Amino acid sequence: MSTTEWWRSAVIYQVYPRSFADTDGDGIGDVQGIRAHLGHLRDLGVDAIWMSPWYPSPMADAGYDVADFRDIDPVFGTLAQAEALIEEAHAVGIRMIVDIVPNHISSEHPWFKAALASPDAPERDYFWFRPGRGENGDEMPTNWRGEFGGTTWTRTPDGSWYLHLFTPEQPDLNWDHPDVRAEFESILRFWFDRGVDGIRIDSAALLFKDPSLPEVVEGAKHPFHDLDEVHDVYRGWRRVAEEYPDRALIGEVWMPEVERFANYLRPDELHAAFNFDFLGCAWDPRLMRECVDRTLDAHRAVGAPATWVLSNHDVTRHVTRYGRADTTFSFDNNLDGTPVDLMLGTRRARAAALLSLSLPGGTYIYQGEELGLWENENIPPASYQDPMWARRGHSRDGCRVPLPWSGDEPPFGFSTADPWLPQLPEWKDLTVEAQSGDPTSMLELYRAAIALRRAEDGLHRPAMSWLDLGPEVLAYTRGDRFACVVNMSGSPIPLPDHETSLLASGPLDGDRLPQDTAVWLRLTA
Ligand code: NOJ
Repeated sequence: MSTTEWWRSAVIYQVYPRSFADTDGDGIGDVQGIRAHLGHLRDLGVDAIWMSPWYPSPMADAGYDVADFRDIDPVFGTLAQAEALIEEAHAVGIRMIVDIVPNHISSEHPWFKAALASPDAPERDYFWFRPGRGENGDEMPTNWRGEFGGTTWTRTPDGSWYLHLFTPEQPDLNWDHPDVRAEFESILRFWFDRGVDGIRIDSAALLFKDPSLPEVVEGAKHPFHDLDEVHDVYRGWRRVAEEYPDRALIGEVWMPEVERFANYLRPDELHAAFNFDFLGCAWDPRLMRECVDRTLDAHRAVGAPATWVLSNHDVTRHVTRYGRADTTFSFDNNLDGTPVDLMLGTRRARAAALLSLSLPGGTYIYQGEELGLWENENIPPASYQDPMWARRGHSRDGCRVPLPWSGDEPPFGFSTADPWLPQLPEWKDLTVEAQSGDPTSMLELYRAAIALRRAEDGLHRPAMSWLDLGPEVLAYTRGDRFACVVNMSGSPIPLPDHETSLLASGPLDGDRLPQDTAVWLRLTA
């Protein structure tokens, strides 16, 4: 593993442990399953794994409700197995990133249990306990709307209310309290001491709340999004990270204003943050180009690497998104169940793979994306486990379905039991087994692209330059000899002069690039 600022250009693979591979036959993935399939990630060629939460948790929000940050949930395995995984990943050149959730903890965490036990418990100050409004205190302290929809306060038996921006099982921590800060710095050290190379920071912009609890008013300063105090916390985390060699902090920062987003990436704060602008961007050449420019400009200003993200465990799988008439994603445009052309979506997803793997910066792959999985929109609502479903009428479970590894029918080698969410029978052609060795498969496209990304000199250059091939084509060079061309127009286009075509997302039409297809070219010297 090279030691120089690896996070600036890494290909990072998100493992969602519940759905990766199950070895103990309970239908839920586990650490042993990840160890058993490490070869898949090595063959894919990824530089790092980001592990979604694997800590002890009542699973009110699929593990994003953490009861103990220093252990592994028994459903996933043991701490010793996690340590073995870190070691084995390192042995095959793969770094490990763990997910830390600082905004809230589980209501089963000892701190919250102590806080609930008595109104005088010192642990109350670790949270946002407040009296209610109204004569009897039975009105919530604010009308803030939760991140999953619904209300944000729950009343305790002693009559006070506590704040939770997500579910009631995820009480928000009070980041003004020094013990909260000290505890999280200690948790970072706990994992860095175990050799973990990076931290993904959940809901990174939400930590601080305006203690005067104003309502959310359009145009006024937001009471809990992106308060300035948060930067001081990340400066502290950066100091902790720098006590160790080559550690990276990666923020989950949903922020429409790019300047405010970039503040998190100043040289003494986080190393990188997910590009949700790109993840939500329509399959549209003008919008996509603007998004790339906006991204690169914002990151250049603070000297941070851009990131390119198409999917994750919270959003509609992009094969599905790109196959709809509306190809954007946002939590507010609930497109569940709208018509999908999966062939079109797959074709665009293949082109998007070459786009996201050749833009300058780090690229994130959500497990199953390399197999071309689409959203399972046929899960019976009774099987939904996502708490967002009840509160917002949209479930994230459709992108969290267990991976198909082998065989002709569910559970496709994922488990010996029924998977915790149902797989689609049509995925028989998308198993790792079925795709391996098939040069036309999504998996072989990802393998080839990641291998070329390592080998191509131009793809190691920090910058890119646009080539003008018309308004409906995204084309750019990296270095003198490498170009990527993505045809987003409605018809084939002629390719620019080149020596060879290195890799294409679909068959070329002679010397023309068909629509919704991308190609990597070696340019003529
Ligand atoms: C963002 C995570 O990605 C999501 O899955 C989770 O529900 C929320 N943060 C709350 O932790």
